[in-house]
Amino acid sequence: MQVSMDINGQTYTHDIEARTLLVHYIRDVVGLTGTHWGCDTSNCGTCVVLVDGEPVKSCTQLAAMAGGHEVTTVEGLEQDGVLDPIQEGFMQNHGLQCGFCTPGMLMTCRALLDKNPNPTQEETREAISGQICRCTGYTSIIRSVNWTAAKEQEMRETPVALEGAAVGGGN
Ligand code: FES
Ligand code: FES
Repeated sequence: MQVSMDINGQTYTHDIEARTLLVHYIRDVVGLTGTHWGCDTSNCGTCVVLVDGEPVKSCTQLAAMAGGHEVTTVEGLEQDGVLDPIQEGFMQNHGLQCGFCTPGMLMTCRALLDKNPNPTQEETREAISGQICRCTGYTSIIRSVNWTAAKEQEMRETPVALEGAAVGGGN
C-alpha cells in the first residue's frame, strides 16, 4: 500500500507493507534513526514521536495510521542549527546519561510543555510515566523540564532580546 505523511515538515510517500509499524517506517524506510526502538512491547517509550502534536509510541501504531498526518521526530526539534529549549534543558541539567531513552523523553516533554508551560513535578512524572530510563533516576529529567519551562517563560517575556542572543551565538 502507499502511505504519505509529513515528517518534520517534509512530505514522504512510499509503498510499504500494510503491517509496517510507524517506528520501522520512520527508521528503516525514511532513514530517520534518531527515534529509537527499544522493546516492541509498548513499555519503554523510547520510540515516542509526535503525531499532530500528540505523543505516540510509534511501535504501537501502523505507519498507515499516520498517513495524512504531521509527524515530528527528535530530528525535527532543532531549527536552523538552534537547539529546541527542551534539548538545551536536557543538556544543561544532565537529563541524559546513555541517551537511549532520550529521543522519546524529549518528544514527550516537548508535548507536555506545549500544553502545560509550567508543569508541576507530579505532572511531569505523570507525563513520562510511560517511559523507562535506566540511568538518571528521573530526577535530572524533571530538573530539565523545570529549567526549560523557566527558559521558555523568559523567552515569552523577552522574545526579541533572546532571539538576538541566539543568532549572535549567546553566552
Ligand atoms: S519501542 Fe516502543 S515502547 Fe519500546
Ligand atoms: S539516559 Fe540511559 S536509559 Fe535514560
